[in-house]
Amino acid sequence: MTSENQPKAGHRDTPVSTVFREFMASGWAADDRSPAPRAEVADHAALRRAALSLRFPGERLVVPGGGLKVRSNDTDFTFRPHTAFAHLSGIGSDAEPDSVLVLEPEAEGGHRAVLYFRPPAPRDTEEFYTDSRYGEFWVGYRPTVADVESRLGLTARHIDELEADLAKGDAARLRVVRPADPKLTELVDTLRTQAGTSPTAEERQEADAELARELSGMRIVKDAWEVGEMRKAIAATHKGFEAIIATLPEAVRKGRGERWVEGVFGLYARHEGNGIGYESICAAGDHANTIHWTKNTGEVREGDLILVDAGIEIDSLFTADITRTLPVSGRFTDVQRKIYDAVHAAQRAGMEAVRPGNKFSDIHAAANEVIARHLHEWGLLPEGVTLEQTLDPENGGWHRRWMVHGTSHHLGMDVHDCQLLLRADYMDGELKPGMIVTVEPGLYFKADDLLAPEEFRGIGVRIEDDVLVTEDGYENLSAAMPRGSHEVEEWIARVSGASENR
Ligand code: GLY
Ligand code: MN
Ligand code: MN
Repeated sequence: MTSENQPKAGHRDTPVSTVFREFMASGWAADDRSPAPRAEVADHAALRRAALSLRFPGERLVVPGGGLKVRSNDTDFTFRPHTAFAHLSGIGSDAEPDSVLVLEPEAEGGHRAVLYFRPPAPRDTEEFYTDSRYGEFWVGYRPTVADVESRLGLTARHIDELEADLAKGDAARLRVVRPADPKLTELVDTLRTQAGTSPTAEERQEADAELARELSGMRIVKDAWEVGEMRKAIAATHKGFEAIIATLPEAVRKGRGERWVEGVFGLYARHEGNGIGYESICAAGDHANTIHWTKNTGEVREGDLILVDAGIEIDSLFTADITRTLPVSGRFTDVQRKIYDAVHAAQRAGMEAVRPGNKFSDIHAAANEVIARHLHEWGLLPEGVTLEQTLDPENGGWHRRWMVHGTSHHLGMDVHDCQLLLRADYMDGELKPGMIVTVEPGLYFKADDLLAPEEFRGIGVRIEDDVLVTEDGYENLSAAMPRGSHEVEEWIARVSGASENR
């Protein structure tokens, strides 16, 4: 299916008759849609913009949502807006490609939010029926300017006005979120160069980076509404994991089982939410030892463990990020349990470090210590290396061979949220109520790891939960999903029993 105006479709450039054009542009009922009602998120987004406004007085801030990305030739990936744009505008899964939020400084102080986007073309235009990327005839309903204004409580304009509007203002006081929309960034750079008063390109990039950092960092403490969205994402993800448990026998039976597991979770992600928050890791057997195993091309076999790291992103674009390592046959073997219980002990230690006043990096330190202690006790560290030595960050680290990743990251609208913050504010930053972090230690013994005991080889375990920092400690938001080895076995028995009786 391609439209008449695809640039690369040379075989389709036959002229269209006037009769056809006129016929297609006529006979459509009047568009009498009334504007969408104000969305709940509108007030939250307004508060976020007000906070940003205080940080950049008198400056014009350009926050693009980004455009469609080509998947292959003339087909695109499903659109997902840039998170800073979504956060500031309140637009989530229904975002239109090529939208741009501009915060215009007002003479009396503060900023006015203007959202530029491409409203639907009237039905008597060729765009309506020939444009396969944007025409409503091809892609379905698109919001009008009135819709966007009433739903989000801001000013909306046609995207075609953006360039002229940007050219009108003081280009010296212009910042843009650079990676979201490279073409727009180029335009902003050109305007700043033409203005002549701008600092050097490097200084401009640093000014832009400062804006991006601020936008990333301002999401670090979640308000009550955002925590509520995270609870929804986690509840949806819980359902997805139970669907996986119910389908494990089928995954074994059918063959190509990792793909099956990925697909079943994806089905729930689409049904319960907007989709997956990141590529699911469905890693059975030795694949669990590949930290980012997203190929999911393997078999699921009886007796193996399957590590599933997956999260559902809901329409507001908040996502869960949860890992469970499940015994495919319903029960852990002794050696699987030994490794699993060690990881679980490390996770409990990591969670206990989640409390206001502690540093973010204390979570990793606590979990890491338990991982190192087990490896030391099991005799895996080189001869003579003590626990203290391996835990020495400067000169040690032998234990990290079996857990190379960190234990925690911030979580929210991006699975790795607030990543642009500097070390002082992230790794060395203090935990504060309202932050949401993962706690996800693991142990990974690759099948060809000659330094691992033979019976460990091919076993990989990670346990990951999503944890809210509270006034006096933490709340595990994914606590309803069992994680102890015996609880996981009971969970599998319960869910597979229930699915058999359906
Ligand atoms: N799934 C990515 C992570 O756990 O960080
Ligand atoms: Mn994670
Ligand atoms: Mn994860």
